Amino acid sequence: MRVLSGIQPSGQLHLGNYFGSIVPNLALVGQAEQNFFFIADLHALTSMQEPAVLKQAREDIVLDYLACGFDPTKAIIFEQSQVPEHTQLLWILSCIAPMGLLERAVSYKDKVQQGIRASVGLFTYPVLMAADILLYRATHVPVGRDQKQHVEIARDLAGKFNAAFGEVFVIPEPVIQKDTAVVPGTDGRKMSKSYGNVIPLFGNENTLKKAIMGIVTDSKDAHAPKDPDTCVVYQIHKLFLSGAEAKALAQEYRSGLAYGEAKKRLLATVLEHLAPLRERRLGLKSSVAKEVLEAGRKKAQEVAHTTMAHVRESTGLS
Ligand code: TYM
Repeated sequence: MRVLSGIQPSGQLHLGNYFGSIVPNLALVGQAEQNFFFIADLHALTSMQEPAVLKQAREDIVLDYLACGFDPTKAIIFEQSQVPEHTQLLWILSCIAPMGLLERAVSYKDKVQQGIRASVGLFTYPVLMAADILLYRATHVPVGRDQKQHVEIARDLAGKFNAAFGEVFVIPEPVIQKDTAVVPGTDGRKMSKSYGNVIPLFGNENTLKKAIMGIVTDSKDAHAPKDPDTCVVYQIHKLFLSGAEAKALAQEYRSGLAYGEAKKRLLATVLEHLAPLRERRLGLKSSVAKEVLEAGRKKAQEVAHTTMAHVRESTGLS
């Protein structure tokens, strides 16, 4: 098993990233032969054009990863932009990627629908993502449901390439946890930086309080029975709980737990759960980020280089 996942450095990490991607990837460290965790900074360029902000976000996100518990001696942490094979493979895959397949990509269609003027980079975003995955022969890709179609496109392109040029690529599997496939944001839609509805992973107490107290609820009376299945406060809270604890809390909602009290309890749980991460994060210096990334880049580059040698050979470009 070779596990790979990536996150764009385009704002603060949030609970959606944490439960949808970081926790499932961390759970596989140790079981996997290799575990890659990379910063998708080339993807971020499709929506960010502020050099100083991007530079800072790239550094911050490595420290965030480390604070979440990634051990750089066990996982390979690196930046996409520092391994040139990603963009080399992007081109080769672009030459076999049908336009129609990319035109059907939901995230592209969504952005266009929101009125964002599409660049070529935004259109070929899933091809770069396929290159990220296929370069490392990843067998398992932990993602939230929003990225499922992109992993399917990677599978599709791997199959097309193998059929045309011989068995070079491994077909990757998306790993999507049922309970964390779509972590809701404070307004009930998918938690997302672009919706401004996030609960940040490393926010201070005040930021977390403001976000949690602002979660949208229905207008039921304080002590009326509540439906935990449709309540965003509960849906977020249960991510932190064991099965038995979640069941007990659901019962309290049904027995009339007031939303104000439910939010206070969620805040306490979040603060308690994230305290060790925040403490570790404060103790990390930016020099550590540089060292980890350089060591990661070297290891990633070796794997990427070997795959690209096969790709060149099989396509007649060696
Ligand atoms: P990004 O940066 O938007 O999100 C990073 C990861 O977090 C997951 N996620 C969520 N999961 C559940 N609920 C949510 N509300 C939620 N919000 C985000 C995402 O599904 C993702 O797993 N294109 C990718 C980055 C990428 C990548 C890759 C990922 C580039 N190449 C190769 C995996 C493999 C992205 O924009 O993720």
